Amino acid sequence: MLPSYQLSNLIKEAFKTGKKQQAEVILYGHSAEKRVDANVVPIVEDNQHLSGVILVLHDITDIRHLEALRSEFVSNVSHELKTPVTSIKGFAETLLDGAMADADLRKEFLEIIRDESNRLTRLIEDILQLSKIEQHQIKPHYSEVDLVNVLTNVLKVLRKAIVEKNVTIELQLPQSLVLTSEADGLHQIALNLISNAITYTPNDGCVTIHAHKKGTEITLQVADTGIGIPAADQTRIFERFYRVHKARERETGGTGLGLSIVKHLVERYQGRIALDSIEDEGTTFTVTLPCEHID
Ligand SMILES: Nc1ncnc2c1ncn2[C@@H]1O[C@H](COP(=O)(O)OP(=O)(O)O)[C@@H](O)[C@H]1O
Ligand SMILES: [Mg+2]
Repeated sequence: MLPSYQLSNLIKEAFKTGKKQQAEVILYGHSAEKRVDANVVPIVEDNQHLSGVILVLHDITDIRHLEALRSEFVSNVSHELKTPVTSIKGFAETLLDGAMADADLRKEFLEIIRDESNRLTRLIEDILQLSKIEQHQIKPHYSEVDLVNVLTNVLKVLRKAIVEKNVTIELQLPQSLVLTSEADGLHQIALNLISNAITYTPNDGCVTIHAHKKGTEITLQVADTGIGIPAADQTRIFERFYRVHKARERETGGTGLGLSIVKHLVERYQGRIALDSIEDEGTTFTVTLPCEHID
């Protein structure tokens, strides 16, 4: 008894017609279903008698799954790109239709157009970055990097946001923390985590940046006193475009790609990332990276 009606039909057909049959069929197992490329080849003897069939099954479950993910990503990307473009187009048209005459409206609409253009730029940069990291054939170019330097630079980039939200930054760092890694990648990891900590913490909050070396590993911890992440969302926030509050988070100007970039980079360096969060109390992200890499 074969586990698939489709497959037994295919075999019957091969016996009936004496011709090779091919189809993609689903096999239902105990735990999961499998997608296989099934080939049924009749064995015809010298006297034209059909003595049996050869059945070749090629498991294509993973390939199909990857294809589905890819097409979901493409449709998400299209949607995310369309939103700012629609808004830019809409406000430009409203201006041309007469709103231009009103100085206040003109300023307001032009600001929206500028902000949405900036969002579009960030989206494109993040998408390009993700696709670059995902091309596993490009190996990391390791060199010696001081994580403390990287963090100092990241804080300079974020100075404006820190001042605007009156966030206290508490640093728990040694003089230097050298590891073999990629400076740009480390910068990106720290930037995305610290900028999230600032973004998702109300005014006057506190962000603690801690790093230390233990054995052959370096740990970077970014903790905030912010809104936290509900338990149900914690497993999903590393997915591309996943946001806890879609509409609200959009207003913060994020792309929804920051944490997936972090996760990909951490994996690229054979590290780990963990998350600890309580709603309305705060969130801590912990990244652990090996100190040494052999090129
Ligand atoms: N420190 C944090 N505190 C609370 N929520 C967070 C924090 N960091 C990330 N999140 C949640 O995870 C989502 C995904 O983060 P990210 O990939 O950086 O995208 P975004 O562009 O929305 O910031 C955010 O939209 C937010 O809902
Ligand atoms: Mg972010």
